[in-house]
Amino acid sequence: MPVVKVLTEGIGEANLRDIAIYEERGGYVQLRRAFEEMSQREVLDLCDASGLRGRGGAGFPTGRKWSFLPGNDKPRYLVCNCDEAEPGTFKDHMLIEETPHLVLEGMLLGAYGIGSHHAFIYIRGEFKRGYEIFSETVRQARAAGYVGKNLFGTGYDLEVTVHRGAGAYICGEETALLNSLEGKRGEPRLKPPFPAVAGLYGMPTVVNNVETLAYLVPILKRGSQWFASVGTERSKGYKIVSISGHVRKPGNYEVPLGTPVRELLEIAGGLRPGRTLAAIQPGGGSSACIFEEQLDLPYDYESLAKAGSMLGSGAVVVMDDTTDFVKAAYNLVRFYAHESCGQCTPCREGGHWLATVLERFVQGRGLQSDIEMLHKVSAEITGLNLCPLGDSIEPFLASVLKRFPEQFEARVLKETVPA
Ligand SMILES: Cc1cc2nc3c(=O)[nH]c(=O)nc-3n(C[C@H](O)[C@H](O)[C@H](O)COP(=O)(O)O)c2cc1C
Ligand code: SF4
Repeated sequence: MPVVKVLTEGIGEANLRDIAIYEERGGYVQLRRAFEEMSQREVLDLCDASGLRGRGGAGFPTGRKWSFLPGNDKPRYLVCNCDEAEPGTFKDHMLIEETPHLVLEGMLLGAYGIGSHHAFIYIRGEFKRGYEIFSETVRQARAAGYVGKNLFGTGYDLEVTVHRGAGAYICGEETALLNSLEGKRGEPRLKPPFPAVAGLYGMPTVVNNVETLAYLVPILKRGSQWFASVGTERSKGYKIVSISGHVRKPGNYEVPLGTPVRELLEIAGGLRPGRTLAAIQPGGGSSACIFEEQLDLPYDYESLAKAGSMLGSGAVVVMDDTTDFVKAAYNLVRFYAHESCGQCTPCREGGHWLATVLERFVQGRGLQSDIEMLHKVSAEITGLNLCPLGDSIEPFLASVLKRFPEQFEARVLKETVPA
């Protein structure tokens, strides 16, 4: 089995929330080394050479994102995205709850690498426990001299702010997150300008996911080549995959990118006894399903995109033959319709209408003409929105409509009421 322990090392064995234990196990050594022995440019180059790509969803190369920051003398900010609300994703929650100092060390390394003196972490509103744990983590790190003024006697000041969101899925989108952090309504901004040029408070900003930043620590420790030598040609390194649904051992598993989907299923204990596989959503609520005949696909960004789906944030939702795909589609579409910020007509209106029509099917009152309409509306919503939320409504629905048409047909109202 290809399960590894890189970020997950020590989880379940020791209380890594205690800074003394984290330090005993080599914690904050890389931060000290970076400040004392490496230039900011060297940290950035190391990150770039490792091939690390963003683990928040889009998979954008991290080093390249950092290099977009303009070379001016404006203050620049690093923002750690811990909104984690993608249906099926629960890896960042685990990292914050179980190994928060690793996340903080990664944030501090990232901030140093981009030359920032102020890092923020935006924690999902509902995740109160995460907010409390991380606030305590920063308090411990400050007392130990890893946060604040004149770090390691180098004259470099680095402040950290822990911010609790107010509970909106859209605030995970980086520009909505920045608006929310500024105290504004959490809705996506028009791009350009991109955050690298005008982000938080109009200043150059990098937004990175919790897992992305945490990987900086082992990359610094073991070198860029160690990370780059694992995975596939373009999807390098390791990834924590949240596996849930109809498996016997749901949970977070850390694996090399490129591990076949079939092995992920096995790692999670396989299907429940007597059941057969119906579908897998490989990259969170926004991804199209893949099916039995695609189980040998390597779990990497390119292979899944080529198969018409995506890796996204690494949430693998397994559905067996007991799944009601009409209900599942309704559930997801209703979620997106509810979470739409309302700025774009296709997302706002289309999501609402799809949810209304699907609700009819769930109640066994679908119309034959609705099936055609579901295809049409879902296809027409896509590609016309300001942010990817609007484009996330269609993939799951379209894939299950195509694969399981009989489940929708069976919910068409057979008799009409006479006028
Ligand atoms: C609707 C929506 C929700 C998102 N939610 C998250 C989230 O919870 N966490 C996250 O890291 N990225 C999320 N993203 C992606 C962010 O916009 C951004 O790409 C990411 O934080 C960048 O970090 P990375 O490069 O390290 O992946 C979301 C995007 C969209 C469109
Ligand atoms: S796509 Fe939807 S969530 Fe995104 S900006 Fe438009 S209305 Fe808001």
